[in-house]
Amino acid sequence: MSKPLLDTLTGLSPSRRPVWLMRQAGRYLPEYREVRQSAGGFLNLCYTPELACEVTLQPLRRFDLDAAILFADILLIPQAMGCDLDFRENEGPVLRKIGSVSDVGQLASDIDELNKTLSPVYDAVSAIRSSLDSDKTLIGFCGAPWTVATYMIEGGTSVERAASRLAAFADEAWLNELIDKLVVSSIEYLSCQVEAGAEVLQIFDTWSGDLSGDLLQRYCFAPIAAIRSELKKRYPHVPVIGFARGVGVSQTDFIAASEVDGVSIEWPVNTKWARDNLIEHCIVQGNLDPLSLIGGGDGMLNATRLILQDLPMDRHIFNLGHGIRKETPPEHVGELVSFIREFDGAAKA
Ligand code: CP3
Repeated sequence: MSKPLLDTLTGLSPSRRPVWLMRQAGRYLPEYREVRQSAGGFLNLCYTPELACEVTLQPLRRFDLDAAILFADILLIPQAMGCDLDFRENEGPVLRKIGSVSDVGQLASDIDELNKTLSPVYDAVSAIRSSLDSDKTLIGFCGAPWTVATYMIEGGTSVERAASRLAAFADEAWLNELIDKLVVSSIEYLSCQVEAGAEVLQIFDTWSGDLSGDLLQRYCFAPIAAIRSELKKRYPHVPVIGFARGVGVSQTDFIAASEVDGVSIEWPVNTKWARDNLIEHCIVQGNLDPLSLIGGGDGMLNATRLILQDLPMDRHIFNLGHGIRKETPPEHVGELVSFIREFDGAAKA
């Protein structure tokens, strides 16, 4: 049976325009909140394969989506490397800060040790893959080295990631070493996800818009390129989507440097510009503003229509420009997906 998402990314003509939503499993769904509560916290959920599998599948039971994305987090790698991690209610992640050669030296980099800690994630991947309908694609993921490093350096979410950017400007040896370690562990982490059943990989560089010029190339694009090229050697058939959020017109440089199969674009990227400059090089994913799903109705549908008109069905994966918000009424997601199916059905007829 054909898989619309995988077909689009591998250059086959998809049976329909694939749709999935970043953070499609999460707090906007009451059934997610229930499982999370019973698990006793977000990290327990990530490390209990049956529960991670259950919440991964929840959005596919409600909505006509084409992909499942593994339920985990980009911060599980730093945690496995020995950087203590806690998710506090309404505060987001809190990590032990890294900021010197000795801090980086103390991080675990033994691959077997990391994989032992992360093995419940791989078990979740296998469980999801075996429960998934044959037309659905399973997406594995990791954070890009720059974004993961910012959480380690700042000790959590921060407004402007100043310490990280200053370290980049200063060409700090410990930052370079940290990025190198994250490249190596991300390659192993994604490889194990593929071995367990992931069919497509996405690399999230949420904070690549922090940097510009040479630093953007060096700390964001080059590490993603290194991960992608090693994965292509090991698994030539597994497409990689890159999400270099906030780089604007540098998306073209990102595609050239990383050779990703797809790029996920944030909502300020003009879709006519994306059509004229990106789709000849790779598949474009995006880019509805997640805020529009909170309001729903014509505001959401008009913005969706413009995206569907601008980006051709066989070169586009419909998605949001960033993760779905927890205030989103689930019925608006249902209306969004039905609208996309009707629009494409009418265009085909
Ligand atoms: O998309 C999915 O459904 C798959 C699961 C997934 C999560 N996080 C689950 C999650 C994915 C792909 C991520 C990626 C992630 N995590 C990113 C990159 C993408 C992006 O959103 O920019 C980043 C930066 C993180 C780090 C992270 N995790 C933060 C900053 C937070 C707290 C903010 C928040 O929304 O609460 C998390 C927690 C997190 N990761 C939740 C979920 C469902 C909420 C946890 C909860 O249930 O309380």
